[in-house]
Amino acid sequence: VLTLRDETARIKAEQRLSESEARFRTVADTAPALIWMTDAEGATTFANRRFRGFFGIKTERQLATGWRDAFHPEDLPLLDTAFARALEGRQRFEHVARVQHPTHGLRWLRMEGAPRFDAAGYFQGYIGASIDVTEAKKAEDDLKRINELLEERVGDALAEKAKAEADLMHAQRMEAVGRLTGGVAHDFNNLLTVVIGALDIILRSEDPAKRQKLGEAALSAARRGERLTHQLLAFSRRQALRPEAMDVNGLIREGEPLLRRAVGEAVAFKLKLRRGGARVSVDPAQFEAALLNLVVNARDAVGETGRITVQTQQCMVAAGEVVDLPAGDYVCVSVTDDGQGMTPEIMRKVFEPFFTTKSVGKGTGLGLSQVYGFARQSGGGVKIVSSPGKGAEIRLYLPPLGEEAPRERITT
Ligand SMILES: Nc1ncnc2c1ncn2[C@@H]1O[C@H](COP(=O)(O)OP(=O)(O)OP(=O)(O)O)[C@@H](O)[C@H]1O
Ligand SMILES: [Mg+2]
Repeated sequence: VLTLRDETARIKAEQRLSESEARFRTVADTAPALIWMTDAEGATTFANRRFRGFFGIKTERQLATGWRDAFHPEDLPLLDTAFARALEGRQRFEHVARVQHPTHGLRWLRMEGAPRFDAAGYFQGYIGASIDVTEAKKAEDDLKRINELLEERVGDALAEKAKAEADLMHAQRMEAVGRLTGGVAHDFNNLLTVVIGALDIILRSEDPAKRQKLGEAALSAARRGERLTHQLLAFSRRQALRPEAMDVNGLIREGEPLLRRAVGEAVAFKLKLRRGGARVSVDPAQFEAALLNLVVNARDAVGETGRITVQTQQCMVAAGEVVDLPAGDYVCVSVTDDGQGMTPEIMRKVFEPFFTTKSVGKGTGLGLSQVYGFARQSGGGVKIVSSPGKGAEIRLYLPPLGEEAPRERITT
């Protein structure tokens, strides 16, 4: 009786087990994933229907290693290493690898496995599921390719833009050189006409007064030629500055008669010089040239009559107030006129060498580029305040020569 009862219990237990196994098998076989299990050594012991179908496994004997051949030969070693590492640490296993499927072609398989432990805590192996992520991978790859393409396009566009800018700059330079040869040749020709004409008459004339007058005319024309070559040399930066510590007020006063003559009688010319002087370290010849350039520009802007003022001040410049000029105290030399003024468009270009709005022979467009070059080489800067019809003020900022040691020169 006793053995019979035992037997019944055993049969019941076996029934329950096979029932639960059948339930698991049904669940596993209907799941939309490749489900697998391994023993504690990692050998495959179970695979659901989908898994067998996918890898073409027909017999139990094929189960253990039959699926391995399908993996891409390049990916198999990595898969083995990843699984071995997880197995050793009894950790979760996650991996993505390629499968060379006999009918579906190349597929990407994402595998995930969790370690199994029995009630006593003994490691039993892995249970895992793998899914075909080829579509997602494709989408990801497409996205990556699109991104790369986009990057490439943007790169191309930027390169194109840089080239266009370089071309434009080259074109502008060529245009400038063209204007130079035209303008300078014309100017020199005019000067030489005056010089040659004057010398010709001097050689043939007996009248001392006439000879004197023509000699002076020839000399002043030759001087203008000299100024022109100086500007050209300064522009090409071959003329080094020879800075000296001096009071610009003194320089301006010395140059006043020349400046007055340059502006003409009908223009009111005024000096407003800072009391106590304005000491800076500049090349005096270059400063005079810059001042003359500014005053001549003002004269051209006011036309027949008008007002031109040369002023010196001590001023404080905030950061960003004047282009490329560090914040600090400066000696400011400004030339103000009530002439035609400038449009913002013109103001943007005036420092470019050879930029001029004047007709050939009237201007070479080197005046303000000399002023700018001189200011920068002296450690200063230039700022223009102007609008059409409202006159113009060109400010020259120069580092002051105070009690402290002279500041570092900016070399441009
Ligand atoms: N005070 C000003 N008022 C109005 N426009 C000005 C003034 N100063 C300069 N400009 C403009 O800036 C341009 C460039 O001046 P810049 O002194 O460099 O050359 P330019 O006077 O034309 O020729 P150059 O000085 O070589 O004889 C001028 O052609 C003019 O259009
Ligand atoms: Mg000028």
